[in-house]
Amino acid sequence: MSKVSMTVNGESVSGEVEGRTLLVEFLRTGLHLTGTHVGCDTSQCGACVVHVNGRPAKACTMFAMEADGAEVTTIEGIAGMDGTLSAVQQAFQDHHGLQCGFCTPGMIMSATSLLKENPKPTEQEIRQYLEGNICRCTGYHNIVKAIMAASGQDVTAVAAE
Ligand code: FES
Ligand code: FES
Repeated sequence: MSKVSMTVNGESVSGEVEGRTLLVEFLRTGLHLTGTHVGCDTSQCGACVVHVNGRPAKACTMFAMEADGAEVTTIEGIAGMDGTLSAVQQAFQDHHGLQCGFCTPGMIMSATSLLKENPKPTEQEIRQYLEGNICRCTGYHNIVKAIMAASGQDVTAVAAE
Protein backbone atom coordinates (compact mmCIF):
# COMPACT_ATOMS: atom_id res chain seq x y z
CA MET A 1 0.00 0.00 0.00
CA SER A 2 1.17 3.55 -0.70
CA LYS A 3 -0.02 6.90 0.48
CA VAL A 4 -1.73 9.12 -2.06
CA SER A 5 -2.62 12.77 -1.54
CA MET A 6 -4.58 15.11 -3.75
CA THR A 7 -7.01 18.00 -3.64
CA VAL A 8 -10.57 16.92 -4.34
CA ASN A 9 -13.27 19.55 -4.73
CA GLY A 10 -11.02 22.07 -2.98
CA GLU A 11 -10.18 19.88 0.02
CA SER A 12 -6.86 18.17 0.72
CA VAL A 13 -7.37 14.42 1.03
CA SER A 14 -5.11 11.44 1.39
CA GLY A 15 -5.43 7.70 1.72
CA GLU A 16 -3.68 4.36 1.40
CA VAL A 17 -4.02 2.69 -1.99
CA GLU A 18 -2.61 -0.28 -3.84
CA GLY A 19 -0.66 0.36 -7.01
CA ARG A 20 -3.58 -1.04 -9.00
CA THR A 21 -6.27 1.10 -7.29
CA LEU A 22 -8.08 3.14 -9.92
CA LEU A 23 -8.81 6.81 -9.35
CA VAL A 24 -12.54 6.07 -9.61
CA GLU A 25 -12.27 3.44 -6.84
CA PHE A 26 -10.39 5.86 -4.61
CA LEU A 27 -13.05 8.53 -5.15
CA ARG A 28 -16.03 6.23 -4.67
CA THR A 29 -14.79 3.81 -2.02
CA GLY A 30 -12.04 5.78 -0.32
CA LEU A 31 -13.75 9.17 -0.24
CA HIS A 32 -17.41 8.07 -0.60
CA LEU A 33 -17.87 10.44 -3.53
CA THR A 34 -20.28 8.15 -5.34
CA GLY A 35 -21.50 10.73 -7.84
CA THR A 36 -18.75 9.54 -10.20
CA HIS A 37 -20.21 6.42 -11.78
CA VAL A 38 -18.70 3.26 -13.24
CA GLY A 39 -20.59 2.15 -16.33
CA CYS A 40 -18.08 -0.04 -18.13
CA ASP A 41 -14.58 -0.06 -16.64
CA THR A 42 -13.23 -0.30 -20.17
CA SER A 43 -12.92 3.40 -21.03
CA GLN A 44 -15.98 3.45 -23.26
CA CYS A 45 -18.94 5.02 -21.48
CA GLY A 46 -17.69 8.25 -19.88
CA ALA A 47 -19.82 7.83 -16.72
CA CYS A 48 -16.62 8.23 -14.68
CA VAL A 49 -15.41 11.55 -16.13
CA VAL A 50 -13.86 13.91 -13.58
CA HIS A 51 -11.53 16.86 -14.00
CA VAL A 52 -7.86 16.34 -13.20
CA ASN A 53 -5.85 19.55 -13.15
CA GLY A 54 -8.65 21.22 -15.07
CA ARG A 55 -8.85 18.64 -17.86
CA PRO A 56 -11.52 15.96 -18.31
CA ALA A 57 -10.31 12.45 -17.52
CA LYS A 58 -11.97 9.06 -17.34
CA ALA A 59 -11.32 8.08 -13.74
CA CYS A 60 -11.48 4.37 -14.63
CA THR A 61 -8.45 4.76 -16.88
CA MET A 62 -6.15 6.31 -14.26
CA PHE A 63 -4.52 4.83 -11.21
CA ALA A 64 -5.10 6.78 -8.03
CA MET A 65 -1.33 7.16 -7.73
CA GLU A 66 -1.26 8.95 -11.09
CA ALA A 67 -3.40 11.68 -9.52
CA ASP A 68 -1.02 12.10 -6.58
CA GLY A 69 -0.65 15.85 -5.99
CA ALA A 70 -3.35 16.70 -8.55
CA GLU A 71 -6.39 18.95 -8.31
CA VAL A 72 -9.42 16.77 -8.90
CA THR A 73 -13.01 17.95 -9.34
CA THR A 74 -15.93 15.54 -9.26
CA ILE A 75 -19.62 16.12 -9.88
CA GLU A 76 -19.97 16.84 -6.15
CA GLY A 77 -17.74 19.90 -6.62
CA ILE A 78 -19.58 21.44 -9.56
CA ALA A 79 -22.44 23.21 -7.78
CA GLY A 80 -21.83 26.39 -5.76
CA MET A 81 -21.02 26.23 -2.04
CA ASP A 82 -24.64 27.16 -1.27
CA GLY A 83 -25.93 24.34 -3.46
CA THR A 84 -26.76 26.54 -6.45
CA LEU A 85 -26.54 24.39 -9.56
CA SER A 86 -23.93 25.26 -12.16
CA ALA A 87 -25.21 26.64 -15.47
CA VAL A 88 -24.73 23.22 -17.07
CA GLN A 89 -26.53 21.39 -14.26
CA GLN A 90 -29.40 23.86 -14.36
CA ALA A 91 -29.70 23.54 -18.14
CA PHE A 92 -29.82 19.71 -17.88
CA GLN A 93 -32.65 20.11 -15.41
CA ASP A 94 -34.50 22.73 -17.45
CA HIS A 95 -34.20 20.84 -20.75
CA HIS A 96 -34.68 17.31 -19.40
CA GLY A 97 -31.16 16.27 -20.37
CA LEU A 98 -31.46 13.03 -18.42
CA GLN A 99 -33.74 10.12 -17.77
CA CYS A 100 -32.21 7.44 -15.51
CA GLY A 101 -29.34 9.80 -14.68
CA PHE A 102 -26.60 7.18 -14.76
CA CYS A 103 -24.58 8.93 -17.46
CA THR A 104 -25.38 12.40 -16.16
CA PRO A 105 -22.38 13.07 -13.87
CA GLY A 106 -19.98 12.23 -16.69
CA MET A 107 -22.04 14.21 -19.21
CA ILE A 108 -22.04 17.28 -16.95
CA MET A 109 -18.29 17.03 -16.35
CA SER A 110 -17.57 16.67 -20.08
CA ALA A 111 -20.00 19.45 -21.00
CA THR A 112 -18.43 21.74 -18.42
CA SER A 113 -15.00 21.12 -19.96
CA LEU A 114 -16.34 21.69 -23.45
CA LEU A 115 -17.80 25.09 -22.54
CA LYS A 116 -14.55 26.08 -20.86
CA GLU A 117 -12.63 25.27 -24.05
CA ASN A 118 -15.31 26.48 -26.46
CA PRO A 119 -17.92 28.77 -24.88
CA LYS A 120 -20.23 28.78 -27.95
CA PRO A 121 -20.01 25.33 -29.52
CA THR A 122 -22.11 24.39 -32.50
CA GLU A 123 -24.47 21.44 -32.27
CA GLN A 124 -21.98 19.39 -34.29
CA GLU A 125 -19.11 20.35 -31.98
CA ILE A 126 -21.17 19.30 -28.95
CA ARG A 127 -22.00 15.94 -30.50
CA GLN A 128 -18.35 15.35 -31.41
CA TYR A 129 -17.10 16.33 -27.95
CA LEU A 130 -19.49 13.91 -26.31
CA GLU A 131 -18.33 10.96 -28.40
CA GLY A 132 -16.72 9.47 -25.30
CA ASN A 133 -19.92 9.69 -23.24
CA ILE A 134 -22.62 7.11 -23.80
CA CYS A 135 -26.26 7.61 -22.82
CA ARG A 136 -28.64 4.66 -23.12
CA CYS A 137 -31.83 6.63 -22.42
CA THR A 138 -32.17 10.09 -23.87
CA GLY A 139 -31.17 9.72 -27.51
CA TYR A 140 -28.80 12.66 -26.79
CA HIS A 141 -31.22 15.24 -28.20
CA ASN A 142 -32.05 16.93 -24.89
CA ILE A 143 -28.45 16.66 -23.70
CA VAL A 144 -27.30 18.62 -26.74
CA LYS A 145 -30.13 21.07 -26.22
CA ALA A 146 -29.15 21.57 -22.57
CA ILE A 147 -25.53 22.27 -23.46
CA MET A 148 -26.57 24.75 -26.16
CA ALA A 149 -28.79 26.46 -23.58
CA ALA A 150 -26.01 26.50 -20.97
CA SER A 151 -23.83 28.30 -23.50
CA GLY A 152 -26.52 30.95 -23.93
CA GLN A 153 -27.48 29.90 -27.45
CA ASP A 154 -30.90 29.47 -29.02
CA VAL A 155 -32.02 25.86 -28.76
CA THR A 156 -35.04 25.95 -31.04
CA ALA A 157 -32.98 24.79 -34.02
CA VAL A 158 -31.36 21.77 -32.34
CA ALA A 159 -32.05 18.85 -34.64
CA ALA A 160 -34.00 15.90 -33.31
CA GLU A 161 -32.22 12.55 -33.50
S1 FES B 1 -16.56 3.60 -16.34
FE1 FES B 1 -14.96 4.82 -17.13
S2 FES B 1 -15.43 5.03 -19.22
FE2 FES B 1 -16.99 3.70 -18.45
S1 FES C 1 -29.96 9.22 -18.77
FE1 FES C 1 -29.87 7.05 -18.59
S2 FES C 1 -27.95 6.56 -19.46
FE2 FES C 1 -28.15 8.66 -19.85
